[in-house]
Amino acid sequence: MLQDKVAIITGAAAGIGEATALYFAELGAKVTVIDRDAERTQAVASRINGAGGEALAFHGDIRDRAAMAAAIEATVERHSRIDVLINNAGIYPRCAFLDVTEGQWDEMQDINLKSTFYIAQQVARHMVRQGHGKIVNISSVTFFMGAKLLSHYVASKGGVVGLTRVMAKELGEHNIHVNCITPGAIQTESEKQVVTEQQSQEFIELQALKRRLKPVEIAKVCAFLSSSLSDAMTGQTLNVDAGWILY
Ligand SMILES: NC(=O)c1ccc[n+]([C@@H]2O[C@H](COP(=O)([O-])OP(=O)(O)OC[C@H]3O[C@@H](n4cnc5c(N)ncnc54)[C@H](O)[C@@H]3O)[C@@H](O)[C@H]2O)c1
Repeated sequence: MLQDKVAIITGAAAGIGEATALYFAELGAKVTVIDRDAERTQAVASRINGAGGEALAFHGDIRDRAAMAAAIEATVERHSRIDVLINNAGIYPRCAFLDVTEGQWDEMQDINLKSTFYIAQQVARHMVRQGHGKIVNISSVTFFMGAKLLSHYVASKGGVVGLTRVMAKELGEHNIHVNCITPGAIQTESEKQVVTEQQSQEFIELQALKRRLKPVEIAKVCAFLSSSLSDAMTGQTLNVDAGWILY
């Protein structure tokens, strides 16, 4: 499905990004793993390379434009192209709307929205030259339903949905597909730190499917949107939430 595809994945040292890097490598993709957690970034790449796959590791903050440009250039230098970008890195600390500071607001937008834009722009310039590409932006189901304590987060993820639609319209003539996933509650280590067991059970009650979703289940939808199976789609937002929000 992704044999020999060259994919850049941000936030790939943990959670959904790590699962996507490992799953893509299993499908034969050559992955560039980007994350600010140096040790875990290296560990994911080593695991892929150790299993006979091909991974490049770049440790850096996605807000660091020079570091991201270097990772993108190194990928092109190694493989001569970039077929796929999974714009996944993001943060979701909680804070009441009345208490969110300008600093918290700016940090959220810088990581979740501005860096998503900037990395996509850099990668898309290569894709325009190549004449093809698939970009998947990771938003959140909270964009549709709102979520208490997440005003700065939901605003950033709404921006990602809007950005996806405009990118799709502008880049379609270059055969570049841009789609978005809105995951529901996905059992990653970070999610478990902010969601209590009781809240987890409440989510399951609200979902049509009565179980927790695993990171690899988002990775599989990323694979679909990165492959030729989704060649007829662009600008779409796929809600992958076990039937939590039906619209
Ligand atoms: N887990 C969920 O329930 C859920 C639901 C909806 C949306 N999402 C979205 O999915 C994405 C991944 O979520 P997750 O649960 O896997 O998170 P996670 O915390 O498990 O993994 C995120 C990774 O991104 C990296 N990262 C964060 N900020 C970074 C930065 N500034 N520069 C470089 N790397 C950075 C972290 O080091 C981490 O390895 C996020 O965009 C999140 O908003 C997650």
